Amino acid sequence: MGLFTKRQKQPEPTFDVVPAHLGIIMDGNGRWAKKRGLPRQAGHVTGARVFRTIAKHCEKRGISTVTFYTFSTENWKRPPEEVEAIMNLLRQYLKESLEDFKKENIRTRFIGDRSVLAPDIQELMAEAEEATAHKTGMVLNLAINYGGRAELTTAMRRIAEEVREGALVPEAIDEDCITERLYTAGQPDVDMILRPSGEYRLSNFLIWQCAYAEYVFDEILWPDFTVKDLDRALEAYAGRHRRFGGV
Ligand code: FPP
Repeated sequence: MGLFTKRQKQPEPTFDVVPAHLGIIMDGNGRWAKKRGLPRQAGHVTGARVFRTIAKHCEKRGISTVTFYTFSTENWKRPPEEVEAIMNLLRQYLKESLEDFKKENIRTRFIGDRSVLAPDIQELMAEAEEATAHKTGMVLNLAINYGGRAELTTAMRRIAEEVREGALVPEAIDEDCITERLYTAGQPDVDMILRPSGEYRLSNFLIWQCAYAEYVFDEILWPDFTVKDLDRALEAYAGRHRRFGGV
């Protein structure tokens, strides 16, 4: 065999074990832009493109629910022009995707407090949810104005109101009762959290749902993240031994 014979093609890894619910923290957009001397917004533009590619790949890999952390309750602290840029990307995505939604078997949902978002964005969100409500494939959650603590606080308030109205007795408040009052009611617990960009924290993302999640971190900045990187992360997840508190 000569020195330059074609390398044997590696077999495609099989993805038999994938998370039922994957949470993705799309981090590193600002640093990606800074490295290139661009405004932070440019990182979000590329990040939004990567989001579309990765969402489709999640579906291809058989993940049943994926949640993307798009805008947190803390992100309002960013400069107004950056907030505006992220909202415009969301607007653009929702408008452009209305056609795709018809073709795809993906159910789009939004988690977070949408009441403070611009009315046209709220309308587009409602349209996207309505247009995909009957879909039977992957559930795609976009977390917008989302915070885990805020979600739990809202759930607690709802429970307190139900108790006050006599619809619920305190003895009936158990873990399921709380789970059913979260934005993710009816969806599986989070199995895996993926955070690129070299940050190792959860940042108030799905804190209740992540009780037994596996964390996969990566140094790559989100705008550079590829389907191959997702496959590597899924392989790392598949190799984990999950015990759920047992032995
Ligand atoms: C975190 O990176 C990223 C965000 C707060 C925004 C994420 C939003 C997008 C990718 C666009 C979303 C659009 C659609 C359509 C889903 P960072 O800005 O904190 O990065 P840094 O840590 O490098 O500053």
